[in-house]
Amino acid sequence: MNKELTREERTDALGGMGCKRKRVEDARFTQGKGNYVDDIKLPGMLHGDFVRSPYAHAKVVSINTDAAMALDGVVAVLTAADLAPLGLHWMPTLAGDKQMVLADGKVLFQGQEVAYVVAKDRYIAADAVELVEVEYEELPVLTDPFAAMESDVVLREDLMGEGGALPDGAHGPRKHHNHIFTWEVGEKEATQQVLDEADVVAEEMVYYHRTHPCPLETCGCVASMDKVNGKLTLHGTFQAPHAIRTVVSLISGIEEHNIRVISPDIGGGFGNKVGAYPGYVCSVVASIVTGVPVKWVEDRMENLMTTAFARDYHMHGKISATKEGKITGLWCHTTADHGGFDACADPTKFPAGFMNICTGSYDIPTAYLAVDGVYTNKAPGGVSYRCSFRVTEAAYFIERMVEILAIELNMDAAELRRINFIKKDQFPYQSALGWEYDSGDYHTAWDKALKAVDYDGLRAEQAQRVEDFKAGKTRKLMGIGLTHFTEIVGAGPVKNCDILGLGMFDSCEIRIHPTGSAIARLGTISQGQGHATTFAQILATEIGLPADSITIEEGDTDTAPYGLGTYGSRSTPVAGAATAMAGRKIRAKAQMIAAYLLEVHDDDVEFDVDRFVVKGAPEKFKTMKEIAFAAYNQAIPGIEPGLEAVSYYDPPNMTYPFGAYVCVMDIDVDTGVTDIRRFYALDDCGTRINPMIIEGQVHGGLTEALAVALGQEIAYDDMGNVKTGTLMDFFLPTAWEVPNYETDHTVTPSPHHPIGAKGVGESPHVGGVPCFSNAVNDAFRAFGLRHTHMPHDHWRIWKTANELGLHG
Ligand code: CDP
Repeated sequence: MNKELTREERTDALGGMGCKRKRVEDARFTQGKGNYVDDIKLPGMLHGDFVRSPYAHAKVVSINTDAAMALDGVVAVLTAADLAPLGLHWMPTLAGDKQMVLADGKVLFQGQEVAYVVAKDRYIAADAVELVEVEYEELPVLTDPFAAMESDVVLREDLMGEGGALPDGAHGPRKHHNHIFTWEVGEKEATQQVLDEADVVAEEMVYYHRTHPCPLETCGCVASMDKVNGKLTLHGTFQAPHAIRTVVSLISGIEEHNIRVISPDIGGGFGNKVGAYPGYVCSVVASIVTGVPVKWVEDRMENLMTTAFARDYHMHGKISATKEGKITGLWCHTTADHGGFDACADPTKFPAGFMNICTGSYDIPTAYLAVDGVYTNKAPGGVSYRCSFRVTEAAYFIERMVEILAIELNMDAAELRRINFIKKDQFPYQSALGWEYDSGDYHTAWDKALKAVDYDGLRAEQAQRVEDFKAGKTRKLMGIGLTHFTEIVGAGPVKNCDILGLGMFDSCEIRIHPTGSAIARLGTISQGQGHATTFAQILATEIGLPADSITIEEGDTDTAPYGLGTYGSRSTPVAGAATAMAGRKIRAKAQMIAAYLLEVHDDDVEFDVDRFVVKGAPEKFKTMKEIAFAAYNQAIPGIEPGLEAVSYYDPPNMTYPFGAYVCVMDIDVDTGVTDIRRFYALDDCGTRINPMIIEGQVHGGLTEALAVALGQEIAYDDMGNVKTGTLMDFFLPTAWEVPNYETDHTVTPSPHHPIGAKGVGESPHVGGVPCFSNAVNDAFRAFGLRHTHMPHDHWRIWKTANELGLHG
């Protein structure tokens, strides 16, 4: 006889929320059975490759494709002249600007797409690229946004009006021909007054350099136009497959039901695969022209040089406080370098993303933020590195400004934070720059973090180290990097978040099969985050079927419900909520079926882990498996057969995860070499669905933060040449550089999310970058350093030490 399981055993058997379920997708990935874009091979498939500009700013005088076309195996060479009759030589960007698909008379950044070669194989295409003769006439190059705002050189003639007039841009009036927008939030005059009257004001220019997320898999697609059925299938590395389908329909004129977009397995996205790139448009056109599938996959240099970058924000800040350290005001003016086209993927009303989270974790009564977007001769994009809608910039800015204020006040930076944190009872908290923080308990997290690392002990050790250094006993300094960040993720309420007019809801559709297993399809798409594992866990808890019996499917627009995709840690806050809500619809119907089967009123049964039981008579129950079967084999009066549900979830607010990080670093003053001795990361992402996956997300995000803070950079010379276009020059950390992370957590659920979960994927990057950077800066605080720019590579650190006179 089967032993009746206890409630706890039944809960464990589900593998639901809170358990460390192993990633179900890994069986596939670890055995080489992933299916990435480059694995897709369709009959007769051709290969595309780009002729790209060697210049950052030049007129395209002529393009001669004869020699390339004459090469055996070349099928077509497309230029802007070929695309112009179709109206496809330019395309809309996600930021309301437009971008050349292929160079239309000029180029605006090194690596810009000039012509698209289609050939029988990738090698022939690459050879033919060399045979396309392009005559350029070089133009003056602008790589500095401040110089661009002063220059007579017009980068975007297409945006000039009659007789040199300056029409408005997508986000209002423009001040200069190289200016894109001004975005202002908060109270300008009031903030100025607070600064004027303050006891102490700290001022600094905080530059967050240009970098790139460098996913291991580059961007690519396979376009396949079936001319007989009029159907276009587009496989691609898309973080938002439905949005791509809509964009392709709008620009190609192909009706949306005739377009199927499929995101197969994706080898890391980090925001790099959100945007629409010329490669997609050219591949679609080439497939339509040739009648066969066309594949395009970038190489590493193309990916680094031309696809969406991250940051490039020059943030001029002022922060004021009383002499006791109570912050009274924050002012920030940012000059944002967007490159040749404004192709950021921020929600329409937020041209600088959610930069207005820059008041951070602090109760700052008065604040003002202005952002000026500027065109330069660099690659466009700006929506990358764990995406972040500019939250990473904001966190870096405020966490540096607080450290600089601590120097100004001659205070301990941990204590300064503590006296300015938003208090637990102030939530929901209305920030001076317009957000309503949903929940938080910053003091508890901070105290836990400082205790875990023995903060006072570390400071004592650091003071001793300074003494020893001054006495000539050591050449190593010690930095203690502190950060308390507040994230904003889960875009977002449709009322204020849309991309290209598409409201940022998300969706889940569930079908329960008669035997009690299920499939759930979502509008999001995993790029390594483990959605197949975690979304099944949400459902297991909500509907009482084992996670192992639930398949999660994403990324096929023919089958998945419409959703806005995965970036900016929005999957859990939005699609995760949709999943829970769809699960609850299933449960509501299951309750009626159970009541019928148990011959009681609906209100007389209640859900219990994996079954409905009669209230007060727990021995009378129907398991969810039995209920699923009944849904398909019993004629139940007043209830339709089947057990399916769909939810489109429009979140009432975003979620505000937070974290307290501490980095302990030794720095060799003579070589600039850094050694991360300890990194402690406490994250609070509300209800934790899968602690093991969260830990993996934190490790990954911290490693990407380490990369950015300590060396990674897309650097340009004055001619606009990318100096870091290969992995020889672009720092990608390996196990060698990565420390042993200590992870920890507190749990402050989101009050508005159905399961209380907040996002987490982005958090460690957002918090990690300032923490590593603060450690470097802190090491030199005792020697008079206020602020030094990232990336803190060995050379820059050596230079800082040298400038401070520490080399003798
Ligand atoms: O949108 P994206 O998937 O990149 O980010 P996310 O929503 O922060 O989720 C990243 C991964 O962490 C997913 O597998 C989530 O289900 C998981 N997660 C979790 O287990 N618990 C949370 N509170 C938040 C995320």
